[in-house]
Amino acid sequence: MGTKTGDRDTVRIDIRTACSGDLEPIVAIEKYSFAEPWSKKDFATCLRRLNIRSKVVIVDEQLIGYVLYINHVTHVEIVNFAIHWEFRRQGIGTQVIDYLIAKLGTCNLLQFILSEYNLPAQLFLKSCEFRCIAVHESHYPDSDEAAYEFLYDTEALWLPANRISEEIE
Ligand SMILES: CC(C)(COP(=O)(O)OP(=O)(O)OC[C@H]1O[C@@H](n2cnc3c(N)ncnc32)[C@H](O)[C@@H]1OP(=O)(O)O)[C@@H](O)C(=O)NCCC(=O)NCCS
Repeated sequence: MGTKTGDRDTVRIDIRTACSGDLEPIVAIEKYSFAEPWSKKDFATCLRRLNIRSKVVIVDEQLIGYVLYINHVTHVEIVNFAIHWEFRRQGIGTQVIDYLIAKLGTCNLLQFILSEYNLPAQLFLKSCEFRCIAVHESHYPDSDEAAYEFLYDTEALWLPANRISEEIE
């Protein structure tokens, strides 16, 4: 099971574990991508944390993206993810999600919580067959910004709660 990369030519990517030498290009992509970017120190801390998996995406030997995630018992949580601006809309983000789905193992849930204002990312997650399952009003400290929780469930039927009883009857 996986998401779709569509009919277009697939860009060949490699995904490998990040190292400290990757921090400069990671931070450059991060700064371009987010209004409140993580710092180099934030990423360096993540690289040292054993519970966070930090992966980078390589195309033709160039680092063009990264994904950081945590393997919880019940689900895998994506904590940061971005693709270099010049490489977007070529199916690369979708390939990274497919990579994570393939690694899910016995736990079948992939979770990503993101800002209510990040509509492009929400549309991206929708295209990868995630569903928004919750709105968290107080997710970000010192901010009124809400967070939307998206979930990809390899076993989901995605029946909205108010339709489940109809389906059973
Ligand atoms: C969100 C992000 C990771 C998507 O990566 P990507 O490599 O461009 O994604 P894909 O090319 O696989 O996109 C797949 C589909 O998602 C949807 N999509 C992706 N970006 C979109 C956008 N900016 N606007 C609308 N739909 C979008 C489209 O349906 C797209 O298919 P199409 O190009 O055939 O129309 C990338 O835009 C990014 O790094 N954004 C900044 C960081 C960020 O917001 N991170 C949170 C990630 S969820």
